[in-house]
Amino acid sequence: MAKKRIVVFSGAGMSAESGIQTFRDNDGLWEQHRVEDVATPEAWHRDKELVLNFYNMRHKQLLTAEPNKAHLDLVKLEDKYFTTIITQNVDDLHERAGSSQVIHLHGELRKCRSEKNERFIKDMPLDGLKIGDTCPEGYQLRPHIVWFGEMVPEMDRAMETVQRADILLVIGTSLNVYPAAGLIYAAKKGTEIILIDPGDFGHTDIRHLHHIQKSATEGVGEVVAKLMHDL
Ligand code: APR
Repeated sequence: MAKKRIVVFSGAGMSAESGIQTFRDNDGLWEQHRVEDVATPEAWHRDKELVLNFYNMRHKQLLTAEPNKAHLDLVKLEDKYFTTIITQNVDDLHERAGSSQVIHLHGELRKCRSEKNERFIKDMPLDGLKIGDTCPEGYQLRPHIVWFGEMVPEMDRAMETVQRADILLVIGTSLNVYPAAGLIYAAKKGTEIILIDPGDFGHTDIRHLHHIQKSATEGVGEVVAKLMHDL
């Protein structure tokens, strides 16, 4: 029988149990700044130092974070299913857990790029970015992150991937931020949609959605065990 296709759509809740804070659980504040006020092109033009400090802090935190049991359990799916991870997270915990197909919708914290030529991408220096760190053409390096209001280059690929899914696992996202959150409406009729999140989702109007109101480590463990033993 042909292998089924599973797509995982993850958000900040996926990494919460790795010690990386979510955006909206602590009302999205960082050092008294609203994330929406720092993760924007306007903030970058207004105060590059503030934006670099924000991402250098998050990058430093990521260096000490480890994949949690939910990241590791998802890797097991690859033995039996075509598995693609589509994540809003900018951490590399899915990759470090061993997932082989990961699409980052909002960029990657471990990378930086030229503020002018977006094709010039390199690893983020371990001690972070400073003003004056430039690309070979002499332009300032910036975080390789999709800021609010910027295009989401991987969105089309993500939509096509969800449209081919037989099963869609939505893990740890408040489904607040578009266009990413729109992915759950891209699933074809009959796709089984499982939402794993301890929060309440009364407003969700998605057909065939089964909500496991548990943490990622608990809920993913249960779902993966079931999917690996389904006939
Ligand atoms: N396990 C699973 N889910 C959890 C856990 C946990 N241990 N703890 C919290 N959650 C859930 C919350 O209930 C919430 O639904 O994770 C979700 C986190 O939501 P947000 O903080 O809004 O994160 P996310 O949905 O990923 O935000 C999307 O917004 O700030 C931008 O670009 C940023 O990618 C981010 C986007």
